[in-house]
Amino acid sequence: MRIDVLTLFPGMFPGVLDASIQARAAAGGHVDCHVHDIRKWADNKHDKVDDRPFGGGPGMVMMCQPLWDAVKDVEAMAPTSCRRIHFTPQGRRLDQELVEELAREERLLLIAGHYEGIDERVIKELEPLEVSVGDYVLTGGELPSMLLIDAVTRLQDGVLGHEDSAAEDSFSPRGENRERLLEAPHFTRPRTWRDQAVPDVLLSGDHEAVAAWRRDQMMKRTRSRRPDLLEQCTN
Ligand SMILES: C[S@@+](CC[C@H](N)C(=O)[O-])C[C@H]1O[C@@H](n2cnc3c(N)ncnc32)[C@H](O)[C@@H]1O
Repeated sequence: MRIDVLTLFPGMFPGVLDASIQARAAAGGHVDCHVHDIRKWADNKHDKVDDRPFGGGPGMVMMCQPLWDAVKDVEAMAPTSCRRIHFTPQGRRLDQELVEELAREERLLLIAGHYEGIDERVIKELEPLEVSVGDYVLTGGELPSMLLIDAVTRLQDGVLGHEDSAAEDSFSPRGENRERLLEAPHFTRPRTWRDQAVPDVLLSGDHEAVAAWRRDQMMKRTRSRRPDLLEQCTN
């Protein structure tokens, strides 16, 4: 999968892209990320990419031209067509189902807004999928971009080893009715810590009993923490 990111703050990305599973995925050729500075496409002397909003009000608005030119040039850098994504708190809420859908794309183009956001006209022309990472407002679309890159990368074939497989994670589809339950709790050594013992069943070596206990925990956790997930799978 190829991922291109358009941002005014490319310096925010290296720490995330160069570490952990992201670095492994890049080294293994599973994900190829390219971060582009929109400012390079500014067609004015001072590399201006934003201006005051028509109608007044606080803050600045990202201008159409630099972003439009950046999208056209960056898309032409590879023959594969892109699924365009614009991060905005007003978009479709990102969840694991959407992550799975986007992880199947060959190429993503992520557009990170900043300041008050982007001139609506260029968004209208580009027709991206508008994605929100939750009902709160961040300073820019850079963190949402990194979130999505991380979430789609770990779903690429061969990125996670057996030990950290994504299939058992919370929100991953399980069973015939595609339940998306929360995962069961985890424990590791020591067997007792601050008077809390690990559940006996996990030390029993009885794989069937462990599987049944985990299933029970998943149901209990989902029912108490996220009953909406159970409602979704019965509908
Ligand atoms: C300060 S926000 C602008 C918020 C905008 N004025 C509004 O009220 O809808 C600047 C940029 O951060 C990004 N952003 C902020 N919160 C976000 C969220 N919850 N999900 C996705 N992107 C977000 C978007 O790219 C947005 O253009």
